[in-house]
Amino acid sequence: MMNLKGRSFLKLLDYTPEEITYLIDLAADLKAKKKAGIPVNRFQGKNVALIFEKTSTRTRSSFEVAAHDLGMGTTYLDPSCSQIGKKESIRDTARVLGRMYEGIEYRGYGQSIVEELAKYAGVPVWNGLTNEFHPTQMLADLLTIKEHLGRIRGVKLVYMGDARYNMGNSYMVVCAKMGMHFVACAPSKYFPGKELVETCEAIAKENGGSITLTEDVKEGTKDADVICTDVWVSMGEPDSIWRERIEDLMPYQVNRAVMQNAGNAIFMHCLPAFHDRNTGIGEEIAARFGIYEMEVTDEVFESPQSVVFDEAENRMHTIKAVMAATLGWEE
Ligand code: CP
Ligand code: NVA
Repeated sequence: MMNLKGRSFLKLLDYTPEEITYLIDLAADLKAKKKAGIPVNRFQGKNVALIFEKTSTRTRSSFEVAAHDLGMGTTYLDPSCSQIGKKESIRDTARVLGRMYEGIEYRGYGQSIVEELAKYAGVPVWNGLTNEFHPTQMLADLLTIKEHLGRIRGVKLVYMGDARYNMGNSYMVVCAKMGMHFVACAPSKYFPGKELVETCEAIAKENGGSITLTEDVKEGTKDADVICTDVWVSMGEPDSIWRERIEDLMPYQVNRAVMQNAGNAIFMHCLPAFHDRNTGIGEEIAARFGIYEMEVTDEVFESPQSVVFDEAENRMHTIKAVMAATLGWEE
């Protein structure tokens, strides 16, 4: 039994491998209970605030469904319908919401904002994605890896594409913590920042993992257990960088050749993904640049090796585990 009551969940650097394992195991237990129809509404009378300064489908739905399953009420706040940032500082917002809610989720820009929120709220704060980190996504990915591969330790996970943003950074941290072999396969200007790499190398050493940064697709993806990628332009980045990103990252697209070179890997993507032109941006990119698939081909996305919808479902079970544990879950 692990006591995480009162803790915020801001980045996985703050959590030990044992605590991460506990959250994954709790999520698996909560998932089994949900499938068996066993209620877990032990937090009745409690409420959580969900702040989204960037858009979301999975994260918002996961927090809402998970909170409701746990018996809690939710309030969704977006920048257009709240005072946050415009008329009221994060520090003041934290002190107000901390008086009304038992926990606060925040999705937005700089990691320093969610850290400040946590400093002043007096209740657990959960990071629903910042520019730097996406920690709840990592728990979902670990649970999915465990379900499909039967293990986490020793797994070779290759991240292709923009590896210096929230997803690349977070995978590097989680692999270092969990004794996995992380490979960032990208042009060198997209490698994670030096300081974080050094921090993660030291953590990996303690836990039997490794960190590799390579521009070589063949070498990097060989014998991978997991191939993952993410959008080439993230939320909050300007439209004007599409051309540069497409030129730089097209050689790192996850396609049939990559999956064949890996051998027997599963494919993961946090979603949303540009694998066809059935989206507004997909259509626009097709018209501007004449390409129909970006970070992953439709063939790989739709293949049996793709576990992206299991991964999406697991967002809910793992977010439920984070809220339950930090609000005082007892076995
Ligand atoms: N993967 C993820 O965070 O999805 P949303 O942006 O839809 O929340
Ligand atoms: N890197 C992406 C992740 C979306 C879940 C973004 O920040 O937009």
